[in-house]
Amino acid sequence: MLETRDGIAASDLTALAMAHCVFPLAVAEEVRRDGPIVYTKGDGVRLTGLDGREYLDMMSSHTRANSLGYGNAEIAGAVARQLEQLHYVGTVNNLAPPTIQLAAKIAELAPEGLTKVMFVTGGSEAVEAAIKLAKQYHAHTGKPRANKIISRWNAYHGATMGAIGATDWLGTRHISEPGVPGYSLIPGPSRYRNPFGMEEEAYFVFCADYLERQIEHEGPENVAAFIAEPIMQAHGVQTCSAEYFGRVREICGRYDVLLIVDEVITGFGRTGAWFASEHYGITPDIMTMAKAMTAGYAPMGAVIARPDLIDALPVFRHVHTFSGHAGAAAAANTVIAIKERDNLIAKARDDGEYMLDALQEYLDPHPIVGQVRGKGMWLAVDFARDKETRAPFEDDTVRAVVRRMYEHGVIASPIGTAFEMAPPLISSRADLDEAVRIAAQSIDEVARERQLV
Ligand SMILES: Cc1ncc(COP(=O)(O)O)c(C=O)c1O
Repeated sequence: MLETRDGIAASDLTALAMAHCVFPLAVAEEVRRDGPIVYTKGDGVRLTGLDGREYLDMMSSHTRANSLGYGNAEIAGAVARQLEQLHYVGTVNNLAPPTIQLAAKIAELAPEGLTKVMFVTGGSEAVEAAIKLAKQYHAHTGKPRANKIISRWNAYHGATMGAIGATDWLGTRHISEPGVPGYSLIPGPSRYRNPFGMEEEAYFVFCADYLERQIEHEGPENVAAFIAEPIMQAHGVQTCSAEYFGRVREICGRYDVLLIVDEVITGFGRTGAWFASEHYGITPDIMTMAKAMTAGYAPMGAVIARPDLIDALPVFRHVHTFSGHAGAAAAANTVIAIKERDNLIAKARDDGEYMLDALQEYLDPHPIVGQVRGKGMWLAVDFARDKETRAPFEDDTVRAVVRRMYEHGVIASPIGTAFEMAPPLISSRADLDEAVRIAAQSIDEVARERQLV
């Protein structure tokens, strides 16, 4: 019988997982039918499953966080050394050297004007901190009633109660209501299809103009901030335009509404820039980050802000026990150093273009593929049941394609009407070629079996 390194039989491990683990966001019926997905080993961009099979991980550990792959001894060593020397010193104004070093480095990499960093332990916490900072800033600077946060349809900003108010994706908000009051959602830019049947660029302008309408509607004195992902994840890698963000920036400035840019997925190189804000020339007032910050080697997130926002507060009334954990900071410092040393941000940009070209070449003409899009190492294939009307599949066709890719040994992820891939930045061109080939083959097989072609 197959055994893990710890000597637990594979079947026992599966049974224990079914008995004791909760699988957040997984469809219970599917988990009961298919069981949990257990991996026992990772090496570079490949994972080994409980059954001994190898998978090419094109999702960077499902969450897109694992930008440097598995088994990186440099990062693991740095964390271990830090844990031995000084693992943790508390929070508030207690700091260890790697945490200070990390704050300074993030300030160097972030868009101009952002210099003050507060650490948290993940993306949702970063969003919570950003929202609280915006409200507390206004409370001290002449807009004491500014408590509304404007967000966007289909946004994802996290799972905690404050972040979920700004969230409109993955079906997590409505089931949690009544939630935290004070959120207001407006249309968010999306490519290929939108609820009004508008052309892409015209729809982007409409969405930006809507922000001004909504601020007026809520009353500018009541609005603290507008929060936006630079590239939304909903229905796959919703790249946007500099024009949209230029208008948003101008509107926010005119109404003294802070612009929070949520770079939790896009930060630290995923899109071929340290932060995706660079692509669109965005200068946020507050920016959030997490995920690839440590490449998944430790849980960590952060918020960076304009210094005058922080300086306006006699006390920033917000704290987490593990803010700025020294071991996590050691992981993040090493991850950033590796990305700089190995030119991985430029590599992500070039490899992303290479993969996008290849995907478009193979898939654009396919009768069930509507649009292939991407930015850096974040790519999506959006499907259409009918290319004329752009109608999406209502059944499980997209999920079936992803399941088939998995059977062929490549990990991708369904995301609404599309599937996406977010390969680790260390992937080789051969890895990317393999992923493109398997994607094309799987789409073709499923389309034929379902008589869609
Ligand atoms: C843009 C964005 N913000 C916030 C979050 C929440 O991060 P976490 O899951 O680390 O709490 C996510 C997670 O996917 C995200 O994509």
